[in-house]
Amino acid sequence: MTAPLPAANRPRTPRFVQLHHEDRAAVRDELLQGLRAPRAFTAPKYLYDALGSRLFDAITELPEYYPTRTEAAIFAAHAPEMATRLPADATLVDLGAGNCEKAARLFDTLRPARYVAVDISVDYLRHALACLQRQHPALDMVGVGMDFSQSLTLPPDAGRGSPRVLFYPGSSIGNFTPDAALRFLRQVHACILEGAAGGSLLIGVDLVKPAGILEPAYDDALGVTAAFNRNLLPHINRLTGTDFQLADWRHVAFFNAAASRIEMHLEATQAVTVRWPDTASATSFSERRFAAGERIHTENSYKWLQADFDALLHTAGFRDTQVWTDPDG
Ligand code: AVJ
Repeated sequence: MTAPLPAANRPRTPRFVQLHHEDRAAVRDELLQGLRAPRAFTAPKYLYDALGSRLFDAITELPEYYPTRTEAAIFAAHAPEMATRLPADATLVDLGAGNCEKAARLFDTLRPARYVAVDISVDYLRHALACLQRQHPALDMVGVGMDFSQSLTLPPDAGRGSPRVLFYPGSSIGNFTPDAALRFLRQVHACILEGAAGGSLLIGVDLVKPAGILEPAYDDALGVTAAFNRNLLPHINRLTGTDFQLADWRHVAFFNAAASRIEMHLEATQAVTVRWPDTASATSFSERRFAAGERIHTENSYKWLQADFDALLHTAGFRDTQVWTDPDG
């Protein structure tokens, strides 16, 4: 007979909560509506299927993609000082956790009581979190599979009643228009109030810089960002039944200075007709024609002025803000 392992030696598995299972029909309708629009568009969340998440990880290692490296250096230099401004024994809520690496690097400094990892890419998150739990067996971990881009409501498991530190690094806020960013930050503020006193937001925001630095970061010489963007098409084919052909589409990225954002598009290299079945079993099809050079707008990545972002945080309800930048500002 073997005795059960004592609790302390038993491998811990993270709890996992899957919120609002996305209704496949609703996802399909949303995507097709965007593809039918006069200026076709898709939401950036569809860039992150399992392969897309891996391609994004590869982007963060590119020499041209400065944000990840720069932010990591800011954390390395200032995390101890950040920790003095954050509550002890907090619930660290990682929004868009991905591979969970950024938060994990802060564990030793921030010493959270609980780690809540939230991401839309559920299988990827499940795997990342299970690996992380093995490295940090004592830390209470919760995975939450959800799309928080429209509405952010955390389960009670996620530290209701304990001080929450919401972690939103990587300038992911850049995917939101300024109006949507304000709505989102107001929800983040409400989430922090649901915790205990002393809660806070730790957010990474990319600042405006010359187009000569911005544009190569989104159009790298190796073509990884192009692959990341184009990988959207097979993902959309799987979700909607469309018949996009990769060969017909090229990656386009540029800085729109008037809107202060990088825009990513997929551009038809020739006239293309895309077809999809009207319902799962039907024999009737709908189509959308694209002229040569016509584009699908796939992502915005807003770049902020520090003063404007500070004002945005203030309007969303945040007080006592503090800014850390790299030595180049
Ligand atoms: C994850 C939204 C922060 O905008 O820099 C990287 C996504 N797109 N390269 C960014 C992205 C193309 C990234 N964010």
